Amino acid sequence: MKKIIIAIDGYSACGKSSTAKRVAAALNYAYVDTGAMYRSVTLYFIEHYIDLTNPKSVSKALDEISITFHHNKSSNQNETFLNGLNVEKKIRKMEISQKVSEVAAIKAVRAAMVKQQQKMGKSKGIVMDGRDIGSVVFPDAELKIFMNADFDVRAERRQKEFFDKDQLVDLDEVKENLRSRDKIDTTRAESPLVRPADAVDVDTTHMFLEEQVDHIVQLATGKM
Ligand code: C5P
Repeated sequence: MKKIIIAIDGYSACGKSSTAKRVAAALNYAYVDTGAMYRSVTLYFIEHYIDLTNPKSVSKALDEISITFHHNKSSNQNETFLNGLNVEKKIRKMEISQKVSEVAAIKAVRAAMVKQQQKMGKSKGIVMDGRDIGSVVFPDAELKIFMNADFDVRAERRQKEFFDKDQLVDLDEVKENLRSRDKIDTTRAESPLVRPADAVDVDTTHMFLEEQVDHIVQLATGKM
């Protein structure tokens, strides 16, 4: 069967990562969570007090960053490593969510991440989720999905995710964070979140995770 690239884009917290992960497992494909890459850069910038307005510091920091994914057998999850250290837990914290869109709007940051992502997809057989995968990273992807869900549903799902990771976050705070990230992600000058013209829309408001996965796997099988 022909190997393809599946690009899944959409707003924060509408189920992209959970769906993409399972689609990749069903097809025996690699999975890349590009949000985790921007989150890792953000963590590094915070921990090293990088001045986001200083292009030299940003570029030097980017040269020092290496992001890799490793599969954890016991949790059966891919975990994110920054310069060899497991940062999976740290990058999911609210502190990172509050800063990540600002960092992801920096041109040099995007250029560095896109270059790595394109390398990862070179041999195809990959599911990648993010904001610019179908529009910038892989404009020729065989299957592009644009996911969305009702705002309140997204906020409740994200709050539950925080809760499952032992973080109690007020629903209003989650909503404020989603609103602010949606705004920065869709209005930034560098590769804003857009719906690629050739994408298939998947609205997950009333869908179960398994339905989303089956739907995308079926669409993918038709392209192989
Ligand atoms: O997917 P996740 O919510 O973890 O992404 C965190 C942030 O990273 C997004 O709000 C967005 O600012 C940025 N991002 C991006 N481009 C991508 C993936 C994520 O700008 N391809």
